[in-house]
Amino acid sequence: MIITICNGKGGAGKTTLTVLLACAFMDAGRNVAVLDRDPQATASRWIRESTSIKLAQEGESYDILLIDTPPRLDSPLLVESLQESDKAILISSPSPADLWTSQDTAKIIKENLPNPEKVRLLFNQVQKNTLLGRELESMAEQIGVPRFENHLSRKQAYQHAALLGWKALNTETRQEVFKVALEIATL
Ligand SMILES: Nc1ncnc2c1ncn2[C@@H]1O[C@H](COP(=O)(O)OP(=O)(O)OP(=O)(O)O)[C@@H](O)[C@H]1O
Ligand SMILES: [Mg+2]
Repeated sequence: MIITICNGKGGAGKTTLTVLLACAFMDAGRNVAVLDRDPQATASRWIRESTSIKLAQEGESYDILLIDTPPRLDSPLLVESLQESDKAILISSPSPADLWTSQDTAKIIKENLPNPEKVRLLFNQVQKNTLLGRELESMAEQIGVPRFENHLSRKQAYQHAALLGWKALNTETRQEVFKVALEIATL
């Protein structure tokens, strides 16, 4: 199963999600690897420094391959990743400032994913009981992609995960990641 994680906007949480999903699937006993297609190579650096996650090797096969992509909608690497993928995750904050880029990203996903139904929106950095936190459904409608029921909250633990990997997360944050991983597995 090949999964592309994308958003044309920088800082949406693509690399954080890629690394944490790899941790969750590994924890569940799956043979998972990450393909870092972002020339900034953040995922590769985080993975080498603080985790035991595999980086994808040419010629190897895996149960699950997670592709981290660059924050650019005109990138051939993004298009290529989508064309090779079974599923795509559009990760976005629930902020109106991210709406346009997410709409544009949704368009590119639908044009390039072989099965355009296999895309879901994942809200990241959600703050419960705020106005934006209550607007998730209407934002998903405006973006035009069905959303996962679960989301990732804004938590400092997710920032620490870049340095410390899975061990930065407590039970609550691991549960959030597991719930998202389950939704992806069953999509
Ligand atoms: N749920 C969250 N709660 C708190 N901080 C978060 C969360 N998700 C991501 N971050 C932080 O936001 C910043 C951007 O995240 P990340 O690098 O994963 O985004 P990205 O989409 O890969 O960015 P780029 O487009 O530059 O590659 C990082 O500092 C990360 O720690
Ligand atoms: Mg990144």
